[in-house]
Amino acid sequence: MQSVLDYLKHNQDRFVGELCAYLRLPSVSAQPQHKQELRACADWLAGHCRHIGLDARVCPTQGHPIVIAKTPRSNSSLAAAKRGSGRRPHFMVYGHYDVQPPEPLDLWQTPPFEPRIAGRAIFARGSTDNKGQHFAHLKAVEAYLKTGTPLPCDLTFIIEGEEEVGSAHLAKFLKSHRSELACDAVVVSDTGMPDADHPALTYALRGIIAFEITLHGPSRDLHSGIFGGAVDNPAMALSQLLAKLRAGHGRVAIPGFYDDVVPLSAYERKQFKRLPTTDRELQKLLGVKKLFGEHGFTPMEQRSARPTFEINGLTSGYQGAGSKTIVPALARAKITCRLVPNQRPARIRQVVCDYLKKICPPTVRLELEAGHGAEAYLVSPTSPQAQAALRALREAFQREPVLFREGGSIPIVNDFKKILGADSLLLGLGLPDDNAHSPNEKFDLDCFAKGQRMSALLWQQLTRAPGHHA
Ligand code: BES
Ligand code: MN
Repeated sequence: MQSVLDYLKHNQDRFVGELCAYLRLPSVSAQPQHKQELRACADWLAGHCRHIGLDARVCPTQGHPIVIAKTPRSNSSLAAAKRGSGRRPHFMVYGHYDVQPPEPLDLWQTPPFEPRIAGRAIFARGSTDNKGQHFAHLKAVEAYLKTGTPLPCDLTFIIEGEEEVGSAHLAKFLKSHRSELACDAVVVSDTGMPDADHPALTYALRGIIAFEITLHGPSRDLHSGIFGGAVDNPAMALSQLLAKLRAGHGRVAIPGFYDDVVPLSAYERKQFKRLPTTDRELQKLLGVKKLFGEHGFTPMEQRSARPTFEINGLTSGYQGAGSKTIVPALARAKITCRLVPNQRPARIRQVVCDYLKKICPPTVRLELEAGHGAEAYLVSPTSPQAQAALRALREAFQREPVLFREGGSIPIVNDFKKILGADSLLLGLGLPDDNAHSPNEKFDLDCFAKGQRMSALLWQQLTRAPGHHA
Protein backbone atom coordinates (compact mmCIF):
# COMPACT_ATOMS: atom_id res chain seq x y z
CA MET A 1 0.00 0.00 0.00
CA GLN A 2 2.85 2.39 0.80
CA SER A 3 4.12 2.04 -2.76
CA VAL A 4 0.69 3.14 -4.05
CA LEU A 5 0.76 6.26 -1.88
CA ASP A 6 4.38 6.97 -2.86
CA TYR A 7 3.52 6.60 -6.53
CA LEU A 8 0.72 9.15 -6.12
CA LYS A 9 3.01 11.52 -4.28
CA HIS A 10 5.74 11.38 -6.92
CA ASN A 11 3.55 11.77 -9.98
CA GLN A 12 1.41 14.82 -9.15
CA ASP A 13 2.93 17.08 -11.79
CA ARG A 14 2.34 14.58 -14.57
CA PHE A 15 -1.26 14.00 -13.35
CA VAL A 16 -1.97 17.73 -13.50
CA GLY A 17 -0.61 17.86 -17.05
CA GLU A 18 -2.86 14.98 -18.07
CA LEU A 19 -5.86 16.61 -16.45
CA CYS A 20 -5.09 19.74 -18.49
CA ALA A 21 -5.23 17.68 -21.68
CA TYR A 22 -8.61 16.28 -20.62
CA LEU A 23 -9.91 19.77 -19.78
CA ARG A 24 -8.92 21.12 -23.18
CA LEU A 25 -11.69 19.06 -24.81
CA PRO A 26 -14.87 21.20 -24.93
CA SER A 27 -17.43 18.52 -24.05
CA VAL A 28 -20.50 20.74 -23.62
CA SER A 29 -23.40 18.28 -23.71
CA ALA A 30 -26.22 20.86 -23.93
CA GLN A 31 -24.98 22.43 -27.17
CA PRO A 32 -25.54 20.45 -30.40
CA GLN A 33 -22.52 22.02 -32.13
CA HIS A 34 -20.25 20.16 -29.69
CA LYS A 35 -21.55 16.66 -30.51
CA GLN A 36 -18.33 15.57 -32.27
CA GLU A 37 -16.25 16.93 -29.40
CA LEU A 38 -18.12 14.80 -26.90
CA ARG A 39 -17.25 11.75 -28.97
CA ALA A 40 -13.62 12.92 -29.16
CA CYS A 41 -13.59 13.43 -25.39
CA ALA A 42 -14.96 9.91 -24.79
CA ASP A 43 -12.28 8.51 -27.13
CA TRP A 44 -9.55 10.43 -25.33
CA LEU A 45 -10.76 9.16 -21.97
CA ALA A 46 -10.99 5.54 -23.11
CA GLY A 47 -7.49 5.85 -24.58
CA HIS A 48 -6.17 7.22 -21.32
CA CYS A 49 -7.83 4.41 -19.37
CA ARG A 50 -6.12 1.84 -21.60
CA HIS A 51 -2.84 3.65 -21.17
CA ILE A 52 -3.00 3.23 -17.39
CA GLY A 53 -3.83 -0.45 -17.70
CA LEU A 54 -7.64 -0.64 -17.73
CA ASP A 55 -9.78 -2.48 -20.26
CA ALA A 56 -11.79 0.35 -21.77
CA ARG A 57 -14.45 0.77 -24.42
CA VAL A 58 -16.65 3.57 -25.73
CA CYS A 59 -20.33 2.58 -25.83
CA PRO A 60 -22.50 4.58 -28.20
CA THR A 61 -26.02 5.62 -27.08
CA GLN A 62 -28.86 7.55 -28.69
CA GLY A 63 -27.13 10.57 -27.17
CA HIS A 64 -23.51 11.01 -26.14
CA PRO A 65 -21.36 7.88 -25.61
CA ILE A 66 -20.59 6.17 -22.29
CA VAL A 67 -17.05 5.13 -21.37
CA ILE A 68 -16.64 1.81 -19.52
CA ALA A 69 -13.23 0.96 -18.08
CA LYS A 70 -12.43 -2.05 -15.93
CA THR A 71 -9.53 -3.26 -13.90
CA PRO A 72 -8.15 -6.44 -15.49
CA ARG A 73 -10.11 -9.31 -14.03
CA SER A 74 -7.67 -11.69 -12.40
CA ASN A 75 -7.88 -15.46 -12.75
CA SER A 76 -8.88 -15.71 -9.13
CA SER A 77 -11.83 -13.38 -9.64
CA LEU A 78 -12.95 -15.34 -12.68
CA ALA A 79 -12.63 -18.59 -10.76
CA ALA A 80 -14.52 -17.14 -7.82
CA ALA A 81 -17.25 -15.97 -10.17
CA LYS A 82 -17.45 -19.43 -11.75
CA ARG A 83 -17.73 -21.15 -8.40
CA GLY A 84 -20.41 -18.59 -7.55
CA SER A 85 -18.93 -18.55 -4.10
CA GLY A 86 -16.88 -16.01 -2.22
CA ARG A 87 -17.56 -13.48 -4.93
CA ARG A 88 -14.82 -10.95 -5.18
CA PRO A 89 -16.10 -7.48 -4.24
CA HIS A 90 -16.94 -5.28 -7.21
CA PHE A 91 -17.34 -1.51 -7.02
CA MET A 92 -18.29 0.97 -9.69
CA VAL A 93 -16.94 4.49 -9.96
CA TYR A 94 -19.33 6.89 -11.68
CA GLY A 95 -18.48 10.25 -13.19
CA HIS A 96 -19.32 12.46 -16.17
CA TYR A 97 -17.05 13.86 -18.86
CA ASP A 98 -19.65 16.34 -20.12
CA VAL A 99 -19.57 19.91 -18.83
CA GLN A 100 -21.95 22.85 -18.50
CA PRO A 101 -21.99 25.58 -21.17
CA PRO A 102 -19.15 28.05 -20.47
CA GLU A 103 -21.16 31.20 -21.22
CA PRO A 104 -20.89 34.11 -20.46
CA LEU A 105 -17.42 33.92 -22.00
CA ASP A 106 -16.39 37.53 -21.33
CA LEU A 107 -16.42 36.88 -17.58
CA TRP A 108 -13.67 34.25 -17.78
CA GLN A 109 -10.21 35.54 -16.87
CA THR A 110 -8.74 33.06 -19.36
CA PRO A 111 -10.66 30.98 -21.92
CA PRO A 112 -12.70 28.09 -20.39
CA PHE A 113 -11.00 25.36 -22.41
CA GLU A 114 -7.44 26.62 -21.98
CA PRO A 115 -6.60 25.31 -18.50
CA ARG A 116 -4.62 27.69 -16.34
CA ILE A 117 -2.84 26.90 -13.10
CA ALA A 118 -2.78 29.66 -10.52
CA GLY A 119 -1.64 29.01 -6.96
CA ARG A 120 -2.98 25.61 -5.91
CA ALA A 121 -5.86 25.55 -8.38
CA ILE A 122 -6.54 24.64 -11.97
CA PHE A 123 -9.03 26.85 -13.80
CA ALA A 124 -11.17 25.45 -16.64
CA ARG A 125 -14.77 24.51 -17.41
CA GLY A 126 -15.31 20.99 -16.09
CA SER A 127 -12.33 21.09 -13.69
CA THR A 128 -14.33 20.44 -10.51
CA ASP A 129 -17.57 19.36 -12.26
CA ASN A 130 -16.58 16.70 -12.99
CA LYS A 131 -13.39 15.82 -14.87
CA GLY A 132 -10.96 16.57 -12.03
CA GLN A 133 -12.98 14.60 -9.51
CA HIS A 134 -13.28 11.31 -11.36
CA PHE A 135 -9.75 11.71 -12.72
CA ALA A 136 -8.57 11.44 -9.09
CA HIS A 137 -10.07 7.94 -8.93
CA LEU A 138 -8.41 6.99 -12.21
CA LYS A 139 -5.02 8.10 -10.89
CA ALA A 140 -5.51 6.01 -7.74
CA VAL A 141 -6.19 2.88 -9.74
CA GLU A 142 -3.24 3.72 -12.00
CA ALA A 143 -1.07 3.71 -8.88
CA TYR A 144 -2.20 0.18 -8.00
CA LEU A 145 -1.71 -1.11 -11.54
CA LYS A 146 1.66 0.53 -12.17
CA THR A 147 3.17 -0.53 -8.84
CA GLY A 148 1.84 -4.07 -9.21
CA THR A 149 -0.10 -3.75 -5.96
CA PRO A 150 -3.03 -6.15 -5.92
CA LEU A 151 -6.44 -4.49 -5.66
CA PRO A 152 -8.73 -6.03 -3.06
CA CYS A 153 -11.72 -5.74 -5.41
CA ASP A 154 -12.73 -5.42 -9.04
CA LEU A 155 -13.47 -1.89 -10.28
CA THR A 156 -15.57 -0.65 -13.18
CA PHE A 157 -15.54 2.99 -14.18
CA ILE A 158 -18.68 4.27 -15.83
CA ILE A 159 -18.15 7.79 -17.13
CA GLU A 160 -21.07 9.26 -19.04
CA GLY A 161 -21.51 12.28 -21.32
CA GLU A 162 -25.04 13.40 -20.46
CA GLU A 163 -25.15 14.13 -16.75
CA GLU A 164 -25.50 17.87 -17.22
CA VAL A 165 -28.54 17.34 -19.45
CA GLY A 166 -30.35 14.79 -17.28
CA SER A 167 -28.67 11.41 -18.07
CA ALA A 168 -31.42 10.46 -20.53
CA HIS A 169 -29.77 7.33 -21.94
CA LEU A 170 -27.83 5.91 -19.03
CA ALA A 171 -30.71 4.08 -17.30
CA LYS A 172 -31.36 2.04 -20.45
CA PHE A 173 -27.66 1.15 -20.58
CA LEU A 174 -27.74 0.02 -16.94
CA LYS A 175 -30.71 -2.22 -17.74
CA SER A 176 -29.06 -3.82 -20.74
CA HIS A 177 -25.76 -4.37 -18.87
CA ARG A 178 -27.23 -5.41 -15.55
CA SER A 179 -25.04 -8.44 -14.93
CA GLU A 180 -21.82 -6.80 -16.09
CA LEU A 181 -22.50 -3.84 -13.80
CA ALA A 182 -23.81 -5.74 -10.76
CA CYS A 183 -21.81 -4.33 -7.86
CA ASP A 184 -21.59 -3.80 -4.10
CA ALA A 185 -21.81 0.01 -4.31
CA VAL A 186 -21.19 2.93 -6.64
CA VAL A 187 -18.60 5.50 -5.64
CA VAL A 188 -19.33 9.01 -6.91
CA SER A 189 -17.13 12.06 -6.50
CA ASP A 190 -19.38 14.73 -8.00
CA THR A 191 -20.39 16.68 -4.90
CA GLY A 192 -18.69 19.07 -2.52
CA MET A 193 -17.42 19.61 0.99
CA PRO A 194 -18.19 22.51 3.32
CA ASP A 195 -14.57 23.72 3.26
CA ALA A 196 -11.04 22.43 2.74
CA ASP A 197 -10.78 21.31 6.38
CA HIS A 198 -13.98 19.25 6.31
CA PRO A 199 -14.05 16.30 3.94
CA ALA A 200 -17.61 15.09 3.56
CA LEU A 201 -19.81 12.12 2.94
CA THR A 202 -22.96 13.41 1.26
CA TYR A 203 -25.99 11.34 2.23
CA ALA A 204 -28.75 13.30 0.46
CA LEU A 205 -29.22 15.16 -2.82
CA ARG A 206 -32.19 17.08 -4.12
CA GLY A 207 -34.23 15.90 -7.09
CA ILE A 208 -35.16 18.10 -10.00
CA ILE A 209 -37.69 18.83 -12.74
CA ALA A 210 -36.84 21.01 -15.73
CA PHE A 211 -39.23 22.69 -18.15
CA GLU A 212 -39.73 25.74 -20.35
CA ILE A 213 -42.65 28.13 -20.26
CA THR A 214 -43.41 30.08 -23.43
CA LEU A 215 -46.08 32.74 -23.74
CA HIS A 216 -47.02 33.46 -27.34
CA GLY A 217 -48.48 36.85 -28.21
CA PRO A 218 -48.75 38.42 -31.67
CA SER A 219 -47.74 36.29 -34.67
CA ARG A 220 -44.58 38.44 -35.10
CA ASP A 221 -42.73 41.25 -33.31
CA LEU A 222 -44.84 44.41 -33.72
CA HIS A 223 -44.06 48.14 -33.86
CA SER A 224 -44.78 49.15 -30.30
CA GLY A 225 -45.83 52.66 -31.34
CA ILE A 226 -48.34 51.51 -33.95
CA PHE A 227 -49.83 48.55 -32.02
CA GLY A 228 -48.60 48.85 -28.42
CA GLY A 229 -51.44 49.45 -25.99
CA ALA A 230 -53.97 47.30 -27.86
CA VAL A 231 -52.22 43.91 -27.49
CA ASP A 232 -50.84 42.18 -24.44
CA ASN A 233 -47.06 42.22 -24.18
CA PRO A 234 -45.85 38.59 -23.66
CA ALA A 235 -42.81 39.73 -21.66
CA MET A 236 -45.02 41.67 -19.30
CA ALA A 237 -47.54 38.83 -19.08
CA LEU A 238 -44.75 36.33 -18.30
CA SER A 239 -43.31 38.61 -15.61
CA GLN A 240 -46.72 38.84 -13.96
CA LEU A 241 -47.30 35.11 -14.27
CA LEU A 242 -43.95 34.25 -12.71
CA ALA A 243 -44.41 36.82 -9.97
CA LYS A 244 -47.57 35.00 -8.89
CA LEU A 245 -45.50 31.87 -8.19
CA ARG A 246 -43.60 33.47 -5.34
CA ALA A 247 -45.30 33.97 -2.00
CA GLY A 248 -43.88 36.06 0.82
CA HIS A 249 -41.12 34.60 2.96
CA GLY A 250 -39.49 32.76 0.06
CA ARG A 251 -42.28 30.20 -0.29
CA VAL A 252 -43.37 28.80 -3.64
CA ALA A 253 -47.00 29.82 -4.21
CA ILE A 254 -48.12 26.80 -6.22
CA PRO A 255 -51.00 24.87 -4.63
CA GLY A 256 -49.88 21.35 -3.72
CA PHE A 257 -46.16 22.08 -4.16
CA TYR A 258 -45.29 21.29 -0.53
CA ASP A 259 -47.89 18.53 0.02
CA ASP A 260 -45.46 15.59 0.14
CA VAL A 261 -42.49 17.33 1.74
CA VAL A 262 -41.34 15.54 4.88
CA PRO A 263 -40.53 17.92 7.75
CA LEU A 264 -36.90 18.00 8.89
CA SER A 265 -36.30 16.01 12.06
CA ALA A 266 -34.86 17.67 15.14
CA TYR A 267 -31.86 15.33 14.80
CA GLU A 268 -31.15 16.50 11.27
CA ARG A 269 -31.51 20.15 12.12
CA LYS A 270 -28.96 19.63 14.86
CA GLN A 271 -26.58 18.00 12.37
CA PHE A 272 -26.93 21.00 10.06
CA LYS A 273 -25.90 23.31 12.89
CA ARG A 274 -22.61 21.41 13.24
CA LEU A 275 -21.45 22.38 9.76
CA PRO A 276 -18.73 25.02 9.71
CA THR A 277 -20.11 27.52 7.14
CA THR A 278 -21.57 30.72 8.63
CA ASP A 279 -24.34 32.76 6.99
CA ARG A 280 -22.00 35.73 6.79
CA GLU A 281 -19.36 33.70 4.90
CA LEU A 282 -22.02 32.45 2.53
CA GLN A 283 -23.29 35.95 1.85
CA LYS A 284 -19.76 37.15 1.11
CA LEU A 285 -18.96 34.17 -1.11
CA LEU A 286 -22.09 34.74 -3.20
CA GLY A 287 -21.67 38.51 -3.44
CA VAL A 288 -25.25 39.31 -2.46
CA LYS A 289 -26.46 42.26 -0.40
CA LYS A 290 -28.47 39.95 1.81
CA LEU A 291 -29.35 36.27 1.83
CA PHE A 292 -32.90 35.31 0.91
CA GLY A 293 -34.87 32.16 1.57
CA GLU A 294 -37.81 30.36 3.03
CA HIS A 295 -38.79 31.69 6.40
CA GLY A 296 -38.18 29.34 9.33
CA PHE A 297 -35.18 27.55 7.82
CA THR A 298 -31.45 28.27 7.95
CA PRO A 299 -29.62 28.98 4.67
CA MET A 300 -27.99 25.55 4.94
CA GLU A 301 -31.44 23.93 5.20
CA GLN A 302 -32.90 26.13 2.47
CA ARG A 303 -30.23 25.14 -0.03
CA SER A 304 -30.19 21.42 0.59
CA ALA A 305 -33.36 20.18 2.26
CA ARG A 306 -36.15 22.46 0.98
CA PRO A 307 -37.72 22.51 -2.49
CA THR A 308 -37.32 25.50 -4.81
CA PHE A 309 -38.67 27.05 -8.00
CA GLU A 310 -35.90 28.77 -9.99
CA ILE A 311 -35.83 30.78 -13.19
CA ASN A 312 -32.61 29.71 -14.97
CA GLY A 313 -33.06 31.91 -18.01
CA LEU A 314 -35.52 34.51 -19.19
CA THR A 315 -35.80 35.63 -22.81
CA SER A 316 -37.99 37.95 -24.79
CA GLY A 317 -37.70 40.59 -27.46
CA TYR A 318 -34.60 42.46 -28.53
CA GLN A 319 -31.32 41.72 -26.69
CA GLY A 320 -28.80 43.53 -28.92
CA ALA A 321 -27.14 46.91 -28.59
CA GLY A 322 -29.18 50.09 -28.43
CA SER A 323 -32.96 50.29 -28.35
CA LYS A 324 -35.65 48.73 -30.49
CA THR A 325 -39.31 49.59 -30.14
CA ILE A 326 -41.33 46.39 -30.37
CA VAL A 327 -44.00 44.31 -28.73
CA PRO A 328 -42.25 40.91 -28.78
CA ALA A 329 -44.00 37.91 -30.30
CA LEU A 330 -43.13 35.70 -27.37
CA ALA A 331 -41.49 35.44 -23.96
CA ARG A 332 -39.83 32.34 -22.55
CA ALA A 333 -38.53 31.15 -19.19
CA LYS A 334 -36.29 28.15 -18.49
CA ILE A 335 -37.28 26.72 -15.13
CA THR A 336 -36.00 24.10 -12.73
CA CYS A 337 -37.54 23.05 -9.44
CA ARG A 338 -35.37 21.28 -6.87
CA LEU A 339 -37.20 18.51 -5.08
CA VAL A 340 -36.71 16.85 -1.71
CA PRO A 341 -37.33 13.27 -0.58
CA ASN A 342 -40.91 12.04 -1.05
CA GLN A 343 -41.78 14.67 -3.70
CA ARG A 344 -42.53 12.84 -6.95
CA PRO A 345 -41.27 14.58 -10.11
CA ALA A 346 -44.38 13.65 -12.16
CA ARG A 347 -46.72 14.99 -9.50
CA ILE A 348 -44.84 18.27 -9.07
CA ARG A 349 -44.82 18.72 -12.85
CA GLN A 350 -48.58 18.25 -12.75
CA VAL A 351 -49.29 20.77 -10.00
CA VAL A 352 -47.06 23.34 -11.70
CA CYS A 353 -48.74 22.82 -15.10
CA ASP A 354 -52.23 22.93 -13.65
CA TYR A 355 -51.56 26.15 -11.82
CA LEU A 356 -49.89 27.87 -14.79
CA LYS A 357 -52.83 26.95 -17.00
CA LYS A 358 -55.22 28.27 -14.40
CA ILE A 359 -53.59 31.67 -13.98
CA CYS A 360 -52.48 32.27 -17.59
CA PRO A 361 -54.37 35.30 -18.99
CA PRO A 362 -56.54 34.76 -22.11
CA THR A 363 -54.50 37.32 -24.12
CA VAL A 364 -51.53 34.97 -24.64
CA ARG A 365 -51.10 31.30 -25.51
CA LEU A 366 -49.25 29.16 -22.95
CA GLU A 367 -46.85 26.49 -24.17
CA LEU A 368 -45.14 24.13 -21.72
CA GLU A 369 -42.23 21.94 -22.72
CA ALA A 370 -41.13 19.26 -20.28
CA GLY A 371 -37.42 18.54 -19.73
CA HIS A 372 -35.55 16.06 -17.57
CA GLY A 373 -36.59 15.00 -14.08
CA ALA A 374 -35.25 12.99 -11.15
CA GLU A 375 -36.21 12.15 -7.60
CA ALA A 376 -34.22 13.26 -4.59
CA TYR A 377 -31.71 10.79 -3.14
CA LEU A 378 -31.23 9.72 0.44
CA VAL A 379 -28.87 7.00 1.68
CA SER A 380 -27.95 5.75 5.14
CA PRO A 381 -24.90 7.53 6.56
CA THR A 382 -24.43 4.76 9.14
CA SER A 383 -24.10 1.69 6.90
CA PRO A 384 -20.84 -0.31 7.06
CA GLN A 385 -19.96 1.07 3.61
CA ALA A 386 -20.55 4.64 4.76
CA GLN A 387 -18.36 3.99 7.80
CA ALA A 388 -15.63 2.60 5.56
CA ALA A 389 -15.86 5.70 3.37
CA LEU A 390 -15.58 7.95 6.41
CA ARG A 391 -12.41 6.13 7.46
CA ALA A 392 -10.87 6.63 4.03
CA LEU A 393 -11.77 10.34 4.08
CA ARG A 394 -10.34 10.77 7.58
CA GLU A 395 -7.07 9.12 6.69
CA ALA A 396 -6.61 10.87 3.35
CA PHE A 397 -7.50 14.38 4.54
CA GLN A 398 -6.16 13.97 8.09
CA ARG A 399 -9.34 15.71 9.23
CA GLU A 400 -12.58 14.58 10.81
CA PRO A 401 -15.16 14.15 8.02
CA VAL A 402 -18.72 15.52 8.24
CA LEU A 403 -22.04 14.12 7.08
CA PHE A 404 -23.39 16.46 4.44
CA ARG A 405 -26.72 17.02 2.78
CA GLU A 406 -26.54 18.85 -0.54
CA GLY A 407 -28.85 20.67 -2.87
CA GLY A 408 -27.51 19.62 -6.27
CA SER A 409 -28.81 16.66 -8.22
CA ILE A 410 -27.23 13.57 -9.76
CA PRO A 411 -30.18 11.99 -11.54
CA ILE A 412 -28.64 8.58 -12.14
CA VAL A 413 -27.98 7.64 -8.50
CA ASN A 414 -31.66 6.68 -8.14
CA ASP A 415 -31.30 4.28 -11.06
CA PHE A 416 -28.17 2.71 -9.58
CA LYS A 417 -30.40 1.78 -6.65
CA LYS A 418 -33.47 0.76 -8.66
CA ILE A 419 -31.76 -1.10 -11.48
CA LEU A 420 -28.57 -2.43 -9.88
CA GLY A 421 -29.68 -2.46 -6.24
CA ALA A 422 -26.54 -0.50 -5.36
CA ASP A 423 -26.19 2.45 -3.00
CA SER A 424 -24.07 5.42 -4.03
CA LEU A 425 -21.28 6.67 -1.81
CA LEU A 426 -21.06 10.39 -2.52
CA LEU A 427 -17.52 11.48 -1.72
CA GLY A 428 -17.18 14.94 -3.19
CA LEU A 429 -13.95 16.83 -3.72
CA GLY A 430 -15.46 20.20 -4.69
CA LEU A 431 -15.15 23.40 -2.64
CA PRO A 432 -17.86 26.07 -2.28
CA ASP A 433 -15.75 28.60 -4.21
CA ASP A 434 -14.99 26.25 -7.12
CA ASN A 435 -17.47 28.15 -9.34
CA ALA A 436 -19.22 25.06 -10.68
CA HIS A 437 -21.59 26.10 -13.50
CA SER A 438 -20.14 29.64 -13.27
CA PRO A 439 -17.37 31.54 -15.03
CA ASN A 440 -13.82 30.79 -13.79
CA GLU A 441 -14.57 27.26 -12.60
CA LYS A 442 -11.61 25.76 -10.75
CA PHE A 443 -10.48 22.61 -8.99
CA ASP A 444 -8.20 22.70 -5.98
CA LEU A 445 -4.99 20.73 -6.55
CA ASP A 446 -4.82 19.68 -2.89
CA CYS A 447 -8.33 18.29 -3.18
CA PHE A 448 -7.15 16.48 -6.31
CA ALA A 449 -4.18 14.91 -4.49
CA LYS A 450 -6.16 14.05 -1.36
CA GLY A 451 -8.94 12.66 -3.50
CA GLN A 452 -6.49 10.27 -5.12
CA ARG A 453 -5.31 9.13 -1.68
CA MET A 454 -8.88 8.77 -0.47
CA SER A 455 -9.68 6.59 -3.48
CA ALA A 456 -6.63 4.40 -2.97
CA LEU A 457 -7.50 3.89 0.71
CA LEU A 458 -11.21 3.46 0.04
CA TRP A 459 -10.84 0.10 -1.71
CA GLN A 460 -8.94 -1.22 1.30
CA GLN A 461 -11.53 0.11 3.74
CA LEU A 462 -14.56 -1.03 1.77
CA THR A 463 -13.31 -4.58 1.50
CA ARG A 464 -12.64 -4.64 5.25
CA ALA A 465 -16.26 -3.74 6.04
CA PRO A 466 -18.32 -6.56 7.62
CA GLY A 467 -19.35 -9.01 4.95
CA HIS A 468 -16.09 -8.74 3.04
CA HIS A 469 -13.18 -9.97 5.08
CA ALA A 470 -10.29 -9.53 2.72
N1 BES B 1 -21.99 17.78 -9.61
C1 BES B 1 -23.30 18.25 -9.83
C2 BES B 1 -24.30 17.90 -8.74
C3 BES B 1 -23.98 18.43 -7.38
C4 BES B 1 -23.31 19.61 -7.20
C5 BES B 1 -24.42 17.74 -6.29
C6 BES B 1 -23.04 20.07 -5.93
C7 BES B 1 -24.17 18.21 -5.03
C8 BES B 1 -23.47 19.37 -4.85
C9 BES B 1 -23.83 17.74 -11.15
O1 BES B 1 -22.87 17.70 -12.16
C10 BES B 1 -24.90 18.67 -11.60
O2 BES B 1 -24.67 19.83 -11.74
N2 BES B 1 -26.06 18.14 -11.85
C11 BES B 1 -27.14 18.88 -12.40
C12 BES B 1 -28.18 17.88 -12.80
C13 BES B 1 -29.23 18.38 -13.71
C14 BES B 1 -28.72 19.09 -14.90
C15 BES B 1 -30.14 17.24 -14.11
C16 BES B 1 -27.69 19.86 -11.37
O3 BES B 1 -27.74 19.57 -10.16
O4 BES B 1 -28.09 20.95 -11.80
MN1 MN C 1 -22.83 19.97 -12.81
